[in-house]
Amino acid sequence: MPTPIPFSPLRTEIAGLSVEQLARQFGTPVYVYDATKIGERIADLRAFDKVRYAQKACSNLAILDLMRRQGVLVDAVSAGEIRRAMAAGYSIAGDPPPIAYTADIFDRESLELVVQQGIHVNCGSPDMIDQLGRLAPGRHITLRLNPGFGHGHSQKTNTGGEHSKHGIWHGELAECLRLADHHGLGISGLHMHIGSGTDLEHLAQVSGAMEKAAREVGRTLTSISAGGGLPIPYRQGETYVDLGAYFKLWDAMRKRLEDAFGHELILEIEPGRYLVAESGFLIAQICAIKRMGNNTFYLLDAGFNNLARPILYGAYHPMAIVPCGALGPKRAMHDVVVGGPLCESGDIFTQEAGGFVCTRSLPVAEVGEYLVIECAGAYGFVMGSNYNSKPLAAEVLISQGQPHLIRQRQTFEDIIAGESIPGD
Ligand code: LLP
Repeated sequence: MPTPIPFSPLRTEIAGLSVEQLARQFGTPVYVYDATKIGERIADLRAFDKVRYAQKACSNLAILDLMRRQGVLVDAVSAGEIRRAMAAGYSIAGDPPPIAYTADIFDRESLELVVQQGIHVNCGSPDMIDQLGRLAPGRHITLRLNPGFGHGHSQKTNTGGEHSKHGIWHGELAECLRLADHHGLGISGLHMHIGSGTDLEHLAQVSGAMEKAAREVGRTLTSISAGGGLPIPYRQGETYVDLGAYFKLWDAMRKRLEDAFGHELILEIEPGRYLVAESGFLIAQICAIKRMGNNTFYLLDAGFNNLARPILYGAYHPMAIVPCGALGPKRAMHDVVVGGPLCESGDIFTQEAGGFVCTRSLPVAEVGEYLVIECAGAYGFVMGSNYNSKPLAAEVLISQGQPHLIRQRQTFEDIIAGESIPGD
């Protein structure tokens, strides 16, 4: 289990490179990822037979390429994500399949793609089984089950239980087996993912539910997936999940199933956040500092168009000031509200669930200095938008001590491309 690195309110470097220089070279707002950190997180999970990266967390081609080179398989939730995996060099054929499409629906594009390309499908609804079975009978599929309970860091990231739209309801498994059988689809694996940013207590319950379901399916199974959901420490004092204990639990259950089935079962894990969250930093510039009654606001050039987690979930991200201005390296601390440039009051990085603005103790800073939002690699850039006609940020990957621009900042022309004014 890794030891959490203490967060500091001042930061001068990322992966050995000067933040100030990165900001000057690539502009702000910019996402910077540390490849070494991703490698370390992959290594933490090596007890599992296969790690499948939930690319929705951060799907830049360079990140996918890095995962692929380190033997990590990939999950895709849309035609676009399947195409990304292919563009990053993932092959289609393999056992277990390098790319798996996990979803609750097929739209026209994704159905066409999985049928034509032979992409593995992890079905999250009876309709998916039926629709795939009609067009591609005889294939092997896996089933994503909703075990009837779930848990996440927010109600919005809980993917189990009857209020969730995700997965095949556990009570409908027998019916789905019949449906698959009707189409000649073989069930080669089961998958459960109860939520994102959950805890060991809830994750542990999943293995029990998996064992029960796997016994119901029987010996056609060759793999089981524990899904994702592993939390990371976002706040000082938070720790990692005991991965050793987590693996043991799943491994013991897998062995009982192997004894019952008389053959080996591959145990997969499917994290997104765990692999990339801590590798990512959003560097923004402080453009204005103002007082509103008793509050001091640091207003940045990054907003919820760049990082939506605070406005969506009241998510907490560590922050640090880059002391590059005239005030020098020693700074007094004070409580500030940190906000962005958007024309919307909710554009605040220091807020709690429900939209309640709160303050953060940060060093005194001046306009023109930089602020780094940390642990932003997962669900950061990928949830960005063009709200207020702001361009998507640039992305930089630091690998072997070198910064690589892995996505150019969008231009205004990129933003309006595809729009047109009807002629008369
Ligand atoms: N597998 C499936 C089927 C999933 O739906 C997800 C996440 C994962 C794996 C990866 O979960 P992770 O290991 O990252 O917890 N935008 C939210 C998180 C949404 C997660 C959606 N599904 C956030 O910023 O916290």
